[in-house]
Amino acid sequence: MLSIVTLISGRGSNFESIVKTAQKEQWPVKFAGVIANHAAAKGLDFARSQGIPAIIVEHREHATRESFDAALIEQIDALGADLVVLAGFMRILTPGFIRHFQGRLINIHPALLPAFPGLHTHERALEAGVAEHGATVHFVTEGVDEGPIICQASVPVLAGDDAETLGARVLAAEHQIYPRAVKWYLDGRLQIEGNQVKLSPPEAQLIKL
Ligand code: GAR
Repeated sequence: MLSIVTLISGRGSNFESIVKTAQKEQWPVKFAGVIANHAAAKGLDFARSQGIPAIIVEHREHATRESFDAALIEQIDALGADLVVLAGFMRILTPGFIRHFQGRLINIHPALLPAFPGLHTHERALEAGVAEHGATVHFVTEGVDEGPIICQASVPVLAGDDAETLGARVLAAEHQIYPRAVKWYLDGRLQIEGNQVKLSPPEAQLIKL
C-alpha cells in the first residue's frame, strides 16, 4: 500500500477532499501524516479527527530555508512517503528539497498554469479580463509554480465576479481534480515525458466546469 504525506499551511480543504474521496472510493492508501509549517493551520484539526498524524515543523524556528527543508525531509522520510502532496503549502521549497522528492512531489495551484503563477491569482485573472480561470495539479520542479501538468480544471469568469466568488468556484474545481490526480498517481498511470505528463490509459486531463 502506498503512503501519502501532505504538506499544508492553512485550511486544508484540498487535503480533506483527497481523504474523503479516498474513503468513499476505498483507495488502498495510507495517509501517513500531515505536516504544517505552523500550529495554527486549521487542516491539522481534520487530520487529528481522522487519526492521521498531525505534525508541525515550525518554519520560524529555522534560520534558513535549507535548515527548514532539511527538517521537513527528515519528517517526510521518517513517515515513509511514496507521494508528497502540497495542498496549500505556502513556503518556497529549496532546490535540494525538490530534487529529493523529484517525480513524487505534486502541487495544486489556483490558476490555469502557465497563466498566473504566484500569489493573488483570482485578483490577477479578474484584472486581466480572462473569460476562463481554473486550477492546475502539477509535478513540482525547481521553478515556482512550474512543472509537468497532470490535470487542469477550467471555470468561467462570470459578470459581477469578485476575487471571492471566483475563488470559491476555483476551489470547488480544485476539490474535483486533486483527488483525481492523486488517484492517477497511485494507480501508476502517470509518466513524465519532458515537460508533459502522459496518462495511460488516456483520459481527459482538462475538465471544463
Ligand atoms: C488552494 O486554493 C490552493 O490552490 C492554494 O492555496 C489554497 C489552499 O486551500 N495554493 C497555492 O496558492 C499554492 N501556490 P486549502 O488549504 O483549503 O486546500
